[in-house]
Amino acid sequence: MEQDKRKAFRRFIDRQEAFIAQNSAERALKQHEKGKLTARERLDLLFDEDSFTEIDAYVVPEGLSHGFGKVKRSFGDGVIIGHGKVNGRLVFCYAQDFLVMGGSLGTVHAAKIDKIQKMALKMGAPIIGLIDSGGARIQEGVGSLAGYARIFRNNIKASGVIPQISVIMGPAAGGAVYSPALTDFIFMTRQTSYMFVTGPDVVKEVLNEDVTFEELGGADVHASKSGVAHFAYDDEENTILGVKKLLSFLPSNNLENPPILNRQDIIPENSDNLRLLVPDDPNKPYDMVDVISHIIDKNSFFEISENFAPNIITGLARLDQKVIGILANQPKVMAGTIDIDSSDKGARFVRFCDAFNIPILVLEDVPGFLPGVNQEHAGIIRHGAKLLFAFAEASVPKITLILRKAYGGAYIVMNSKNLGGDFNFAWPMAEVAVMGPEGAVKIIYRKELAEAEDPVKLKKELVEKYREEVANPYIADEKGYIDEVIDPADSREKLITVYDALKNKHVERQPKKHGNIPL
Ligand code: HXC
Repeated sequence: MEQDKRKAFRRFIDRQEAFIAQNSAERALKQHEKGKLTARERLDLLFDEDSFTEIDAYVVPEGLSHGFGKVKRSFGDGVIIGHGKVNGRLVFCYAQDFLVMGGSLGTVHAAKIDKIQKMALKMGAPIIGLIDSGGARIQEGVGSLAGYARIFRNNIKASGVIPQISVIMGPAAGGAVYSPALTDFIFMTRQTSYMFVTGPDVVKEVLNEDVTFEELGGADVHASKSGVAHFAYDDEENTILGVKKLLSFLPSNNLENPPILNRQDIIPENSDNLRLLVPDDPNKPYDMVDVISHIIDKNSFFEISENFAPNIITGLARLDQKVIGILANQPKVMAGTIDIDSSDKGARFVRFCDAFNIPILVLEDVPGFLPGVNQEHAGIIRHGAKLLFAFAEASVPKITLILRKAYGGAYIVMNSKNLGGDFNFAWPMAEVAVMGPEGAVKIIYRKELAEAEDPVKLKKELVEKYREEVANPYIADEKGYIDEVIDPADSREKLITVYDALKNKHVERQPKKHGNIPL
């Protein structure tokens, strides 16, 4: 009996030793040489000290039913799953281990991800995927594809219920890119991570074009051109710090509110500066980020998709310690016009905020939608409609502050009162009208201008008259479409007061399966 017990313990210890041997320092070197960390080092950075608990560390891959290639028997099958605390809050995670068959996804590997996704959803806690994988494990064939399909399905079930974050820290190729694409946010690291559906070899074969991994699907490409990634950092340490920062703004699930800080030391910037930040000349650009930083709690702005469609700004911030989502036009890029990419970026952000109980603040200075054949042919109608749909559908508190221009369809789409804005404010220099003075004068007084002795003088007078009588905030104010015209210096205090008034906002929706957002 005593011997049986000793044998059982010996086996228990042997397994542990074999597991430890699998994670040798020598092995880690292979990742380090590529400028990458190992999966375990990444987990150490992400989770609070000693808080990570691993699950299924000893599972092994299934054997093959055919003779093509081999599947190496290794504990864990190339992915680490578990849970732990990030800044004291519960988070679930899976981290792919490139050192085991290139982090490729076989059936058991997929079953582990499936298990942790389901667990995160059941417990109502965020899930983070640290992705470093050659994709579907070729030897395991359709079993791998089935595994991906289950993972995608879990992503979709969890969408809008728990925050899902994908961190690309190596390859993500082929259909494997679609799990990250189905999650809320994608982080990438420059030079060591890439995402594409078909790689450089296929591009060469099919199109005879030479392109590097980085050029085709690197972090900067996805964070600026395609908009697939929301964040790009120079190294893995900073990438993980970024993930932790994002998590600090998010509730654990859709039934909770975002965390409130209880600090006594929030210092706002000097609000009086707000009177000076917007230039008198309506055509002069300025940086909307300056305005944002003068309204929110100091240094609390966390911008999302900073380099993609920069004509619209999206980000999370704190106002009087409470989280808000900010969507703002950026007059210093394309005069802040709304185009296809900014519509998509804005709509997705509004829907994220709405799903996770984050009140929205719109800071508006928009001359209109971007005109042009390219925009029309590429579907600005369809894409602009997404932003309209997202705002009108969102039931979180929604406030708009018009700083300067608010023209035409762009005025409507930026959470105008009649689209569903809860509170709509304007600064005294706001211009709220169907279109800008020049365009309006040309259309309404076309005949008079053609017949005038001095058309330049007449146009100048009419533009002035339009500015004075139409392009101001007071017509909208008198109709109640703007609740109040406010002194810019009072903006922060006003917003704090009305967000407080909206904190128990509740909206009953018409029962339906789901709407049909123009995708
Ligand atoms: C099995 C794989 C693998 C895979 C890599 N490996 N990818 N094993 N299935 N998909 C193994 C390699 O055989 C090698 O094993 C080890 O991982 C490291 O790979 P290397 O090629 O030596 O590394 P590196 O030079 O850094 O190149 C990494 C790579 C390359 C660019 C990812 O391995 C590659 O191109 N892999 C295939 C990518 C791919 O086409 N995947 C299928 C995508 S389609 P050894 O034993 O030598 O160490 C897909 C469909 C999903 O994923 C559909 C979902 C709906």
